[in-house]
Amino acid sequence: MRWEPGQYLAFGDLRLRPAIDLLARVGLGEPALIYDLGCGPGNTTALLRRRWPDARIIGIDASAEMLAKARQASPDVDFRQADVAIWSPPEAPALIFSNAALHWLSDHHGLFPRLFGMLAPGGVLAVQMPRNFEQPSHRAMAEAVAGGPWAERLRPLLRGAPATAEPAVYWRLLAPLVAALEIFEIEYLQVLEGPDPVKEWTKGTALKPFLDALSGEERDRFEADYAARVAEYYPAEADGRTLFPFRRLFVIAARAGP
Ligand SMILES: C[S@@+](CC[C@H](N)C(=O)[O-])C[C@H]1O[C@@H](n2cnc3c(N)ncnc32)[C@H](O)[C@@H]1O
Repeated sequence: MRWEPGQYLAFGDLRLRPAIDLLARVGLGEPALIYDLGCGPGNTTALLRRRWPDARIIGIDASAEMLAKARQASPDVDFRQADVAIWSPPEAPALIFSNAALHWLSDHHGLFPRLFGMLAPGGVLAVQMPRNFEQPSHRAMAEAVAGGPWAERLRPLLRGAPATAEPAVYWRLLAPLVAALEIFEIEYLQVLEGPDPVKEWTKGTALKPFLDALSGEERDRFEADYAARVAEYYPAEADGRTLFPFRRLFVIAARAGP
């Protein structure tokens, strides 16, 4: 899909909260080589750079638009375009970090052990993914798709099964391979401001493929239909702000040392 860094970064600070919490759980001293998978506009990569100023850090993303933004924001980081589904590093990294990206890929049963297997001895795989696919923000997407003349065209874009599995699935995949494994969830209560804030939030991510498949007036009508549905699910508080609970899954897996 074609990403719009501006729309994504409209909630940049809130989107960064889980990345900060993920990074806090990584206990590595001085990792020599770090990959940020699905680095997007580079805001997570900048966090990594701040913590480890001397490390070699490489941001990987499939989107040319996101990478252009990332290069602008962090000229001292190496950013490369690649599809994580088929990516492999030429040299074993000490840290593979990925915030809010791997849920865009399927086959986590293959992906997670494969990424873990790429680590250098003592290395860490640290991943955060949304696990909110049953929430009204996503239900409203399916309802809006089914509720208009665009249904036939948009239905194939609905993902059958949520990409992020139950926490126990990741434990079963990784526990036989690791020296240490930590898996937990956090539900953030995101406090959003402005008109149609939940629609504006998903417009930067999950809603985007549906909008991209439509054009002109029809696109506007679909967007307005979705906005009306989420506004009902997430009514504004007395002070005008909107509460948007958002659950995230964290997986931190460490390889045995040399
Ligand atoms: C929601 S953004 C997350 C960006 C950043 N990590 C953050 O936390 O703000 C998801 C990113 O994953 C990237 N992405 C999705 N699927 C990918 C794939 N198969 N290979 C590489 N990047 C991918 C997208 O291009 C997008 O930039």
